[in-house]
Amino acid sequence: MPQTVRGIVARAKGQPVEVAPIVIPDPGPGEVVVAVQACGVCHTDLHYREGGINDEFPFLLGHEAAGIVETVGEGVDHVAPGDFVVLNWRAVCGQCRACKRGKPQYCFDTFNATQKMTLEDGTELSPALGIGAFAEKTLVHQGQCTKVDPEADPAVVGLLGCGVMAGLGAAVNTGGVSRGDTVAVIGCGGVGDAAIAGSRLVGARTIIAVDRDPKKLEWARELGATHTVNAADTDAVEAIQELTDGFGADVVIDAVGRPETWKQAFYARDLAGTVVLVGVPTPDLTLDMPLIDFFSRGGALKSSWYGDCLPERDFPQLVDLYQQGRLPLEKFVTERIGLDEVEQAFSTMHRGEVLRSVVVL
Ligand SMILES: NC(=O)c1ccc[n+]([C@@H]2O[C@H](COP(=O)([O-])OP(=O)(O)OC[C@H]3O[C@@H](n4cnc5c(N)ncnc54)[C@H](O)[C@@H]3O)[C@@H](O)[C@H]2O)c1
Ligand SMILES: [Zn+2]
Ligand SMILES: [Zn+2]
Repeated sequence: MPQTVRGIVARAKGQPVEVAPIVIPDPGPGEVVVAVQACGVCHTDLHYREGGINDEFPFLLGHEAAGIVETVGEGVDHVAPGDFVVLNWRAVCGQCRACKRGKPQYCFDTFNATQKMTLEDGTELSPALGIGAFAEKTLVHQGQCTKVDPEADPAVVGLLGCGVMAGLGAAVNTGGVSRGDTVAVIGCGGVGDAAIAGSRLVGARTIIAVDRDPKKLEWARELGATHTVNAADTDAVEAIQELTDGFGADVVIDAVGRPETWKQAFYARDLAGTVVLVGVPTPDLTLDMPLIDFFSRGGALKSSWYGDCLPERDFPQLVDLYQQGRLPLEKFVTERIGLDEVEQAFSTMHRGEVLRSVVVL
């Protein structure tokens, strides 16, 4: 029997989101219904509401979540009712050209549920990033569920489902940060701070946090930054060079995604170093730079999608490290809120007052 639950719907571009009844079908082949326990509020949810991702309104928002598998459809063997899972938006297909070349982190054909969740009048909903977890229950593909230690706090480990994994993976997977490296991170929101926490985890020796907001720099220090630079009153490139014996950092991560921050990342990097772009630029932004600088400085210029993660490999490991007290994921949860407070959480996020607001169900 289909079930009706409460969920957060964005009906039209720029309109405030609202709590609405959502109809969840019984899981079909390969599908799973998950009782959501917690879901973080991410910038991407706001981008959806503003029509910045696509026009497929109405959206069921929310995508950084953890919960308990409730029912499973035919042929589901990856998870079972009662399993504690973190949801992901990279259920790799194993068949596309990226998967076949042994690079499933780039999978171009990831799995989502085939059936649609709907409003009560039958209007089909577009779930954010194929998840839709600002709801008491959601329907996903079994591959979107990764089992992790059931003792972990869902509000904390659900954040691995998007922003924290994106930032941590940008440093560790895409940037290849390792023991002894010098790292700089420009933009210390949830994503940048996760890059900082990841860099500390793998043993970077210098970790420079750059932001324009002193509160963000304070939080960055708590997550592992060894030095901070306030870009509102200091030249970020010069400051990073000074803190790295005049050379620049081995890896510089742009977690803002603007031409000026990317250029800072480029010039604040040591010769043959690596730049990682994890902040998402808007389509209007362009870059104008001397081509000779790209050539003469060498190294690698990379972008990072979802931290080049593989959920089945990365989520259980990171949850274990968190449980052992070696990765302070709990510091990303600034506040816990109810389902009906998502619209307010967008304002709080916009004002830069939180790393993450997390809806707890
Ligand atoms: N690549 C991916 O897979 C992926 C996944 C999730 C999020 N993201 C993107 O990562 C970016 C960061 O996300 P977030 O949740 O941390 O956002 P956020 O808004 O919480 O943080 C951005 C930070 O950048 C700082 N900032 C802004 N302009 C700056 C400047 N010129 N110099 C220095 N600091 C500056 C802000 O003060 C803020 O602390 C967003 O663009 C988001 O869309 C990417
Ligand atoms: Zn694939
Ligand atoms: Zn997200």
